[in-house]
This record gives sequence, C-alpha cells and structure tokens, in this order.
Amino acid sequence: DWTPDQFIESTVAELREQIGDDKVILGLSGGVDSSVAAMLIHQAIGKNLYCIFVDNGLLRKNEFEDVLHSYKDMGLNVKGVDAKDQFYSALAGLTDPEAKRKAIGRVFIEVFDQESHQVEDAKWLGQGTIYPDVIESVSVKGPSATIKSHHNVGGLPDFMKLKVVEPLKTLFKDEVRLVGRTLGIADTIIGRHPFPGPGLAIRILGDITPEKVAILQEVDHIFISSLKKTGLYDQVWQAGAMLLPIQSVGVMGDERTYERVVALRAVTSVDGMTADWCHLPYEFLADVSNEIINKVRGVNRVVYDISSKPPATIEWE
Ligand code: XMP
Repeated sequence: DWTPDQFIESTVAELREQIGDDKVILGLSGGVDSSVAAMLIHQAIGKNLYCIFVDNGLLRKNEFEDVLHSYKDMGLNVKGVDAKDQFYSALAGLTDPEAKRKAIGRVFIEVFDQESHQVEDAKWLGQGTIYPDVIESVSVKGPSATIKSHHNVGGLPDFMKLKVVEPLKTLFKDEVRLVGRTLGIADTIIGRHPFPGPGLAIRILGDITPEKVAILQEVDHIFISSLKKTGLYDQVWQAGAMLLPIQSVGVMGDERTYERVVALRAVTSVDGMTADWCHLPYEFLADVSNEIINKVRGVNRVVYDISSKPPATIEWE
C-alpha cells in the first residue's frame, strides 16, 4: 500500500541518486505542487536546489512577502524577485484575456530565464508536475504548461534546455497534500485554495493597472480573511473576487456616487472541471459586503456569483 512516508523515503533516495552533486533550479508559485516538489528535492540535495519565486504584481495582498517568509522558514534556498513593473508594463492597455495570459507567460519566461542564468552551471529544472498534468497534457494550467503553451518563436530559453526532474509526476492532488503534510509544510500552503498562474490579471476584467490591482487585493483580502475567520475557508474549493469593468450609481450622505462593482465567487469542486457555487450563509455575505463597501475606497456595490460550471467557468476570464 502507498504511504506518504514510504513515498518520501524512496523518492528522496532516487533524487539523490539521479541528481548527485548537480544544481537544480525550481520556480516556486506559492501553490501546493511546486512547494512540495521543492521540499522533496531539498531533502535530497539541500542547498544545491536554487528556488526562484517571482512577484508578478498579480498576487493576493501580502502574498509574496508571506509566502517568501514561509519558504525561508522551511529552509529553502529561495530568491524572491520583484518583477512587478515588468508585468505591469507588458499588460498595459491589454484587454483580451488570452492576450493578457500570453503577456504574463512571456514576461515570466524572460524573468525566470534571466534569474536562472545567475545560477552557474545548473543541470536540472525541477517542476511540480502532478499526474493529472501529465495525462491532461494539452491543459493550459500550471507553470510548466503555461511556459510551453506561451512560448513564442526565437528559440528555447536556456532553462528549458535543462533536464527535467518531476518528483510528483505519479501523484494525485490529495496524495501531494499528504506528502506535503508529512514533510511538515505549513497548512497555510498545503490547505491553500488553487490560484491561477495569471493571478488577479484574469479577475480584473479589461485592462490592468496597479491601482485596480490594489483595489482588488483589498476586496479579496476581506473576503478570504472572513472565510478563514468563520471557518468556511476549508469548505470552499476556491474563492476570490472579480473587479468588473463597470461603475454603478450609489449614494453616500447627500451625494450620489459613481463607483466600481465587484463580484464575489466561491465554488465547491473536486478537480476544477465542474463546480457548484457555494451556498454561503446570507449573514456572512452581508458582513463581507458591508466591510468591503465601508473599507475599500472606490467600490460601492458587491454582487455574488451564483453560476455553476458548466456552463459558467470558475474565473470570469
Ligand atoms: P476555469 O475558469 O477554466 O478554471 O473554470 C478552472 C481552474 O483553473 C484555474 N485557471 C487557471 N490556472 N492559468 C492557471 O494556472 C490559467 O490561465 C488559468 N485559468 C483558469 C482556475 O483558477 C480554476 O482553478
């Protein structure tokens, strides 16, 4: 029978054998898969694993700092790279969702390639590919697949010529979580909801500006921390907020306002392929809506998405 302890023991031994004294580069996303892959490789080769964690300016509020901190606590050799401005300039004026995804994928490759050149003589690229990614090879999900589907002409970047090491390739998501917990990875990482690679860029409908990102980060933060405070977070498969490209009329004191609308979305799902909207308690929704409208300047209306997938998708873009 499969057990996480046995898996860890044999995988670490195999990795040690396979990699020897070589250096490995790995891109961390803050998600479960890349974190668990990194910890396994770290157990096998320690400081010869060079992790890179890129701030694309599209993460949740405080996420980059918090997650980088956890990675360092875990003993990982990790470099945090602030590339916010590069992503924002590549996104400026883009409104088409696929164009936004492509721009993000392209900048990520540039930044990652540049950073990987700082590691002299690396031989391997570590990846958090899991079994469903392998069978669903046409999927656009996940950092490695994003890299492949978004890479344009001009030859492969150097890091893509490295040999690939994928210690989670045979595992399903729940097994990855078990392995992660057994490795002692914090529950804030293991129990985390899925978050799309393009981040908040596909939750801001229309063009991206740093100002819109800041508004959405505040809204999302109120929603997610309320889910955590009330114990609802773990019952939800994925949750987030969308910044809509419309303004609506409101009233504040004697004045009419004309401000932004946000949509909240929370779903239950097994694998993201189908999903039901969560029947969150009305009192909870009322509290979150009040807090958002009272605290986030520029937002005067909150709506809740009650569509299931299919035919709606989880993200709005
Ligand atoms: P949809 O919106 O297609 O989302 O129902 C299903 C799951 O995939 C995530 N998602 C993405 N993940 N890059 C990613 O890494 C993407 O471009 C992307 N688009 C959607 C979404 O958050 C959900 O978990």
